[in-house]
Amino acid sequence: MAGAAPSVLFDNHGRPLEYLRLAVTDRCNLRCFYCMPEEGIKYMPKQELLTYEEMERLVGLLTGLGVRKVRLTGGEPFVRRDLVPFMARLTAIPGLDDLSLTTNGVLTAPYVPELARLGVKAVNLSLDTLDRARFASITRRDELPRVLDTFYALLASGIQVKINAVVMDGQNIEDLVPLAELTRELPVEVRFIEEMPFNGGSHAATLPWDHCRIRQHLEAHLGEFVPVATPAGATASEYSIAGHQGRIGIIAAYSRTFCGTCNRIRLTAEGGLKTCLYDQGVLDVRALLRGGSTDEEVAEALKSAFRYRAANGFEAEQRRPVHQLSFESMSTIGG
Ligand code: GTP
Ligand code: 5AD
Ligand code: SF4
Repeated sequence: MAGAAPSVLFDNHGRPLEYLRLAVTDRCNLRCFYCMPEEGIKYMPKQELLTYEEMERLVGLLTGLGVRKVRLTGGEPFVRRDLVPFMARLTAIPGLDDLSLTTNGVLTAPYVPELARLGVKAVNLSLDTLDRARFASITRRDELPRVLDTFYALLASGIQVKINAVVMDGQNIEDLVPLAELTRELPVEVRFIEEMPFNGGSHAATLPWDHCRIRQHLEAHLGEFVPVATPAGATASEYSIAGHQGRIGIIAAYSRTFCGTCNRIRLTAEGGLKTCLYDQGVLDVRALLRGGSTDEEVAEALKSAFRYRAANGFEAEQRRPVHQLSFESMSTIGG
């Protein structure tokens, strides 16, 4: 993972696009309340998903346009077969400095040594509670022990771990402080995320716990939060607490306070380009690939799409022909 191409992909607001979120599947082995209804969502037929070869080609093309960081998402990335060999191929692409993934941790533990060997520096682990019964109720599967195995395997491997906890009124508020307490003794970042309404129609989402209330609640129990500088484009506001080894992050995913520096490109598992989490998809990249477009033609289409990018998530939401966000699931969007 070395080499450097000049950053040439900028949007119409002057933001460089350096971070690709690539969904490798829309399938998941959990049924999180904030992501999909109990019966699940309608998954795409497998032939509609981008193949690993198609994804590799796109990553190569995008690193040529300045992308430096790729995060694999899903659904759950590890439900797709042969994920690790695919990752190994990505690490050979010149210009890619940072390959990471976001996982629910159910299937991940056995792969951790291999991830470390590949040079994966950080893994983001979804974990909304440390209580087994509440975990089973939120995710509708009794898998907390396997997720904790992944957590401990990651800590032991030296891979940086960020825990992602979605804050849900009436579901896991009693878990916020115990999760945050992990940072006292462990060098982890625990990030609390505002709940977004992309839940596949599971329930109506309101936002009783916005980023300000989350911070107030945690500070009341843990003491003063000291803001820490974050890289440009970061989703989380980060804080240290005196005497704690780890850090706290708060992600205003629904309040959308960080759009001004957004450096993310999203590709859904079926090859849809999203220039914002809140847009409805702006380009069918799979159709270009399967229609025989050259790399230059695909690159030009991507550049054109980013010339018309919404300034922020609110504008992207406004532009959608169908405004109801809860029709979608984060599993299909790619997180
Ligand atoms: P790092 O690379 O470690 O900073 O991770 P990340 O925050 O970019 O990715 P992760 O997959 O861990 O996502 C954490 C939360 O941030 C999830 O709820 C994502 O949906 C949300 N998120 C990521 N990117 C965006 C974005 O562009 N807009 C909004 N509103 N939320 C985002
Ligand atoms: N709101 C906020 N975050 C969500 N995630 C999944 N669904 C939602 C939602 N409705 C988070 C997961 C995962 C990350 C990719 O997105 O917890 O960590
Ligand atoms: Fe699966 Fe992630 Fe959705 Fe939970 S949030 S159901 S782990 S895709």
